[in-house]
Amino acid sequence: MKQIILTGDRPTGKLHLGHYVGTLKNRVLLQDQYDCYFIVADYQVLVDHLDQHRNIEKNVHQVILDWLSVGMDPNKSTFFIQSKIPQLCELTSILSMLVTVARLRRNPTIKSEAQDVGVDSDKDSIVYGFLGYPVSQAADILLFKANLVPVGADQKPHIEQTEEIAQRFNYIFGDTFPLPKALIGDVPRLSGLDGSSKMSKSKGNAIYLSDTAEELGKKVMSAYTDPEKLRKTDPGHPLTCVVFQYTRAFFSVDSENLEADCRAGKLGCVSCKKLLSSKLNTLFEPIRERRYRFEADSDYVRDIISSGTRKAIERGEETMGKVREAIGLSFNKYF
Ligand code: TRP
Repeated sequence: MKQIILTGDRPTGKLHLGHYVGTLKNRVLLQDQYDCYFIVADYQVLVDHLDQHRNIEKNVHQVILDWLSVGMDPNKSTFFIQSKIPQLCELTSILSMLVTVARLRRNPTIKSEAQDVGVDSDKDSIVYGFLGYPVSQAADILLFKANLVPVGADQKPHIEQTEEIAQRFNYIFGDTFPLPKALIGDVPRLSGLDGSSKMSKSKGNAIYLSDTAEELGKKVMSAYTDPEKLRKTDPGHPLTCVVFQYTRAFFSVDSENLEADCRAGKLGCVSCKKLLSSKLNTLFEPIRERRYRFEADSDYVRDIISSGTRKAIERGEETMGKVREAIGLSFNKYF
């Protein structure tokens, strides 16, 4: 029996290069070794983008297209949508009995995400579902009895919290869930084009998987480089330069020569940017082509989502049967 993997994305918009190096590329490889479940976590959009609820449907579709275009394969893995799995809500409400408010408040990701939207997670004004969304995420993971959860480092506290919840469930109700472990990628987070922070849609500093070759070229040209390197012959400081960071993240084999040439004043920023754009465009060409193909075939996209979601419901119902049994909630003489 293959081990089970579960991971996914919030549909808050199109996915970008940071998602690609950070997780998507790895998911494509994991599919051959594991039984993978990929969740479009649309409830989670409501956690911090409540005002964007009207865009959820469109963004769910974008995320699916992004997944398909990078080579995540619904014939090998299960793609499904969180809000279409009623068992997730049922399990969330059960698991919510196994975690204290104090424990949720200690979750460092909740603290910093709350801070990002101007909320103090220690105050009672924090929304209940925001403070509690790690419980819903624990349900995502446990409903499918996942063993491994590949995520970025920022998500690690949620996986640890899930493990604690599973442990507590097993202790009280009997062995039901495997204890899941986070699988943290070794790729550091990509900076945005402006170099100041992480790549993100809200900061307008991202290159998207769905950008055309021309858009990508323009964005790379606008990227932040070493401000002390004004001319080609000035010695550069590659470690402060976004273009170097991207080159290293995507094409690590080439980056050593490039680093030496930049430092030695043998490589100018414009040539360096052109090199990066052309290599990125070569890498993304097949991804774009696949995207155009799937964009034109909405019947296919609908079919894979409906069959993935159906399978997820089936698996979820199997788990919930055991959960209800373990708790003593499987009685049904009244129906
Ligand atoms: N919180 C994750 C993110 O923001 C998305 C997500 C939802 C997830 N449910 C999950 C990731 C379960 C891993 C496992 O990217």
